[in-house]
Amino acid sequence: MRTQVAIIGAGPSGLLLGALLHKAGIAHVIVERQSPEYVLGRIRAGVLEQVAVDLLDEAGVGERMHREGLPHDGFSLAFDGGHHRVDLHALTGKRVMVYGQTEVTRDLMDARAAAGLTTVYSAENVAIQGFDGNRPTLSYRHAGADHEIQADFIVGCDGFHGVARASVPTSAIETFEKVYPFGWLGVLADVPPVHEELIYANHPRGFALCSMRSKTRVRYYVQCSLDDHVEDWTDARFFGELRRRLPEGDAARLIEGPSIEKSIAPLRSFVAEPMRFGRLFLAGDAAHIVPPTGAKGLNLAASDVGILSRALAEHYRGSDLGLDTYSQRALSRIWKAERFSWWFTSLMHRFPETGEFGRKMQHAELDYLVSSEAAMKAMAENYVGLPLDA
Ligand code: APR
Ligand code: PHB
Repeated sequence: MRTQVAIIGAGPSGLLLGALLHKAGIAHVIVERQSPEYVLGRIRAGVLEQVAVDLLDEAGVGERMHREGLPHDGFSLAFDGGHHRVDLHALTGKRVMVYGQTEVTRDLMDARAAAGLTTVYSAENVAIQGFDGNRPTLSYRHAGADHEIQADFIVGCDGFHGVARASVPTSAIETFEKVYPFGWLGVLADVPPVHEELIYANHPRGFALCSMRSKTRVRYYVQCSLDDHVEDWTDARFFGELRRRLPEGDAARLIEGPSIEKSIAPLRSFVAEPMRFGRLFLAGDAAHIVPPTGAKGLNLAASDVGILSRALAEHYRGSDLGLDTYSQRALSRIWKAERFSWWFTSLMHRFPETGEFGRKMQHAELDYLVSSEAAMKAMAENYVGLPLDA
């Protein structure tokens, strides 16, 4: 088979890139290792920046998001028993859209099926060859037969454990990583949210986050140990712990319900540089990971493929400037989101190794933050998302 762009991975990066390329009239194929059900079963963050909302609109898949998503004008920081609102709209003129990554993925899958675009699911042995020359190929095994796709370009949208980044010679790539000494225990439940906006709580027992998927479904998290096992966290223990980490009023309002999903996620900051190797490009989690504090993962995936889809369209109109500057443009925005996610994580979590001094520093910073319009503005500007060309 021959196509213009071969995409590895049907997560949000691969699916959105496919949708944007289709709008630009560029032929492409997506090859995914898992089944569609498996891809939809992964629970991830659910806060979209305006840049991501605009790209979903541009891709023609924003209709349900605007109907069912919840625009939020602010969120709360809770510490020392108090509640402090960060008024995103007053501080930046922007807001965020609360809409789950699962729903974004479903909308992209449905639009793809309706447009008759090719996605090969359950592909085995995905491998890439020749991306340092002019004729890159992608090979895979599907339903017992071997296949090969010849393409102008290959894009690795295959996540942190994908094959694309792993196929690049180690001498051509540099990686930067920080692993945090704790995880997030997340619970999904069908109960009304404790508060109409998100609450990020710093508490001596550890961080907690009250998020939501809709007016009737919550996503709550507590910081946990990396040695913890999900089986040891009954729903009662989870809600008990969450309640202890929230200010009194919120704790009293918290409604419990049986968990639909419960999982522990480690926290990591990671960046691979560059994001282009000849005719191979990396986008999304294949190139970078952020800790979930601030929900930048999906938003960065969207901005990468926004920049890349424009660059590919320019290429087919005769200019390679966009492709030549993709890595540098994407990384400039990525590092700023890495910085914000690292800062917000450092501010809100319990780090046993930093001791009482670390706790005092966090406290001073939180106190300063909520009393300084300049500091609040800087936080809000990053939370709603920097411009595509940050
Ligand atoms: N061959 C084909 N597909 C693969 C391979 C492979 N060798 N390895 C991984 N994949 C697929 C995975 O099964 C997955 O569906 O690539 C997809 C990558 O999807 P994500 O991990 O969701 O990454 P991305 O699309 O970049 O989305 C980034 O998802 O991880 C979250 O927080 C992150 O919200 C952010 C978003
Ligand atoms: C979520 O809804 O899962 C979520 C929201 C905000 C975050 C992280 C996760 O910062």
